[in-house]
Amino acid sequence: MERLHKFLARAGVASRRKCEELIKAGLVKVNGQTVTRLGTTIDPAQDRVEVAGRPVREAQEKVYILLNKPAGCVTTVRDPQGRPKVTDLLGGVHQRVYPVGRLDYETEGLLLLTNDGELTHALTHPRHGVKKTYLAWVHGIPPAERLAQMARGIILSDGPTAPAKVRLRGKNKKGALLEITIREGRKRQVRRMCAQIGYPVRRLRRIKLGFLTLGGLKPGEYRFLTPEEVQKLKKLACREGQR
Ligand code: URA
Repeated sequence: MERLHKFLARAGVASRRKCEELIKAGLVKVNGQTVTRLGTTIDPAQDRVEVAGRPVREAQEKVYILLNKPAGCVTTVRDPQGRPKVTDLLGGVHQRVYPVGRLDYETEGLLLLTNDGELTHALTHPRHGVKKTYLAWVHGIPPAERLAQMARGIILSDGPTAPAKVRLRGKNKKGALLEITIREGRKRQVRRMCAQIGYPVRRLRRIKLGFLTLGGLKPGEYRFLTPEEVQKLKKLACREGQR
């Protein structure tokens, strides 16, 4: 027997947390009956499970994709406004994958996509905090004390930020280029942090997630992770979970 939300995550439906939301929202049926109780267990070999009317099969082959997301596409699988989606860029990927965390519509850079709900859960859990590094082109040139303030932690509308690494990488007439590393992953966090110290973001690119970098991938290009990278990522997720 297995808990329903774990089964759904393992089958690649979404992260465990998201699967719990699907259950609570009444979108999941077991043997034709809608189930909304979170502790429900099922027998994956016997029970028929459906999400939003679509049957869920036992775990598919796991795939792990590193995409260089271009600006101007959404990371959500459905978009009410019908904007381009990151999954439109994955020609040749037959599995239903979903992003590990989000990047904003305008944000570019490193995005991991997978059908491994367990790994997604581990990497995106707010307590685990895998390091994410961003390049932020901002309007104006923040003085060192402003950057130090951002690194120590600042107050945003949803609470104080945890310590971050912040470095001035360059400057020109238009403004400055900052390198910012955070472990949290709140909505529009880097944009809000920069705006909060008075230097709004013009352009934002994620360049690193844990040990993964973009390498030579051009915007819109993707590659599959190697088995070694997948192993390393699982170890990292596990280690960060014990922090
Ligand atoms: N921080 C942001 O502000 N936007 C992103 O897309 C990612 C991190």
